[in-house]
Amino acid sequence: MEENQTPKSAGDRGSSPDQRAVSREESRDSVRDAYSRAAESPGGEHPFPVGRGFAQSIGYPVELLAWLPAVASEAFAGVSNLPVLVPVEEGQTVVDIGCGSGLDALIASLKTGTHGRVIGIDFSESMLNRAREAAREAGIANIEFLREDAENLPLQDASVDVAMANGIFNPNPRRDRIFAEIARVLKAGGPVYAAEIVLGDGRSEKERQEAGDWSNGVAGAKEESAFLDEFQAAGFREITVLRKLRNERTESGAVYVVEVKAEK
Ligand SMILES: C[S@@+](CC[C@H](N)C(=O)[O-])C[C@H]1O[C@@H](n2cnc3c(N)ncnc32)[C@H](O)[C@@H]1O
Repeated sequence: MEENQTPKSAGDRGSSPDQRAVSREESRDSVRDAYSRAAESPGGEHPFPVGRGFAQSIGYPVELLAWLPAVASEAFAGVSNLPVLVPVEEGQTVVDIGCGSGLDALIASLKTGTHGRVIGIDFSESMLNRAREAAREAGIANIEFLREDAENLPLQDASVDVAMANGIFNPNPRRDRIFAEIARVLKAGGPVYAAEIVLGDGRSEKERQEAGDWSNGVAGAKEESAFLDEFQAAGFREITVLRKLRNERTESGAVYVVEVKAEK
């Protein structure tokens, strides 16, 4: 397992017993609020790491971060730098599910070029405001950011070449719907590249509860094998673990980040 950054103590992120106790359905609004707060004041206290320094610490290239508008990178809240490594061909259509402030979508738009198209989806308007502003500032026209639920993608069946998901599953109780939607919108054979926090083998439910809340993606973490099973259940094949990582997001030893590639 790669070490991106020395873990800090679990208490630093400010999750309270009350936050951990909210029901799954109620958590949806609190997740959206948490990410909107991160977009509105990225320098504040948040239950997950936010910003350009964190992006750099997990391997986003310094030159790329310097070139792309700060309005995107300063509210970055992903779980790994997998989107930097995703192969995208010129002219392809890419969807970034849970795009946040747009850093990964902007990077994809540089790869797919003016003949391609990138669609970023998020349910936080504050995050999307940053993403749209960043695209304007960078003069990138082949990109659009849509406010929608990941469980209900506003895209045609089999219309997307490549799907990316950098931390979308864990905050969501209906993650099976998100998997189904990704499978629906991808073209046959099209890949999804997903990074997510998973629970270490043999770790107890109690450890997971103590390690975080819904918004930081830890309370919703499944064991790696269960995460991989979800791809299979949605009809994906060639399900491959690309890397396993630790970073500031996985500050408790109970969880780590896994990156997966799977094909429709
Ligand atoms: C872990 S953050 C990652 C953000 C972005 N991918 C990045 O790397 O900065 C998850 C993002 O997904 C969004 N999100 C979470 N659940 C969602 C849902 N059900 N539908 C749409 N967006 C969602 C949040 O608003 C947040 O911006």
